[in-house]
Amino acid sequence: MKTVSVQLGDRSYAIRIGPGAAVEDALPLLRGRQCLLISDSNVMALLGDRCEAMLAAAGAIVARAEVPAGEQSKSLQYTSTLYDAALEHGLDRGSCIVALGGGMVGDLAGFVAGTYLRGIAFIQMPTTLLAMVDSSVGGKTGVNLPQGKNLIGVFYQPREVVMDLEALRSLPTREYVSGLAEVIKYGVIWDAALFDSLEANVAALLARDEVYLEEVIARCCQIKADVVQQDERDGGLRAILNYGHTMGHAIELVSGYGAYLHGEAISIGMCYAGLLSRDACGFPDADRLRVDALLASVGLPVSFSGDSPAWDALRQAMSTDKKTTQGVPRFVLATTIGSVEFGCEVSEALVESHYDGLIKR
Ligand code: GLY
Repeated sequence: MKTVSVQLGDRSYAIRIGPGAAVEDALPLLRGRQCLLISDSNVMALLGDRCEAMLAAAGAIVARAEVPAGEQSKSLQYTSTLYDAALEHGLDRGSCIVALGGGMVGDLAGFVAGTYLRGIAFIQMPTTLLAMVDSSVGGKTGVNLPQGKNLIGVFYQPREVVMDLEALRSLPTREYVSGLAEVIKYGVIWDAALFDSLEANVAALLARDEVYLEEVIARCCQIKADVVQQDERDGGLRAILNYGHTMGHAIELVSGYGAYLHGEAISIGMCYAGLLSRDACGFPDADRLRVDALLASVGLPVSFSGDSPAWDALRQAMSTDKKTTQGVPRFVLATTIGSVEFGCEVSEALVESHYDGLIKR
């Protein structure tokens, strides 16, 4: 079992990582208190009883609220449904919300926790690799509008994050592999030793070896904690967590969400960022090829599959990215494996020239 601390003054919290990990610091928030366990229909059916038993053993009075699985539940409509559930079960300012699930559930439940009665205690229990290494840590919560993703939200830190690695055993392979894109990203943006280790342990990663995963997930969470501690509200350094995301988000938007899973789109986006980095930032081509090879070796795409999204649509989508200023996308670019720069402006000619590099030949 490993613990990582996120140091944010009176909003500090621990992340517990390991098979069978359970709540520790947040126990006083549960004992004798109303607790609303929020999950989606898939995860509740698989893991709801186990989680409820853990919360009940901690002394909580547990009620459940379930939303349909899928990104469409990350909406104001389901926010309202969950406020109703919180009121129905008598949650007051001493109560607690527990988010059990992937990024959709964590973002939605965190937003409800952060706004219900101006904020009540909140515990994240991520069940996907993507949510463990990214969305459950750092306090970004929110929902989508028909006009775009994550347009409504609050920064609201959980009181504890509990990552029971046993939850990964039932994760479909495609979703698990999608999470590996964010794991590899941490090696590229911050930690060359982590990148070397991932290269040397592809078999253990793919076998979901829990001893190795515990070490890797803890390292990713420590990196995210280091970044968030320096820039909690996303005004500067935190942008580096979006390496590969300018193109990745554009691919998701243009292809229709779900055609590519998030990590798959980010994988292609990292290949694109690697090409830009080589030409604009001196990223050695040997490093770029290592990143592409590692992505491919775990089964992530390094080029478009099937019909390629049209360049004009991708370029337009990049203009709507939150990191774009006056229509000019700002890229996170690598200088070497383990080091990046953020806020980089790149010539329009270069931005367009590497589209061809993403088309499968
Ligand atoms: N997922 C990027 C961030 O938390 O800032």
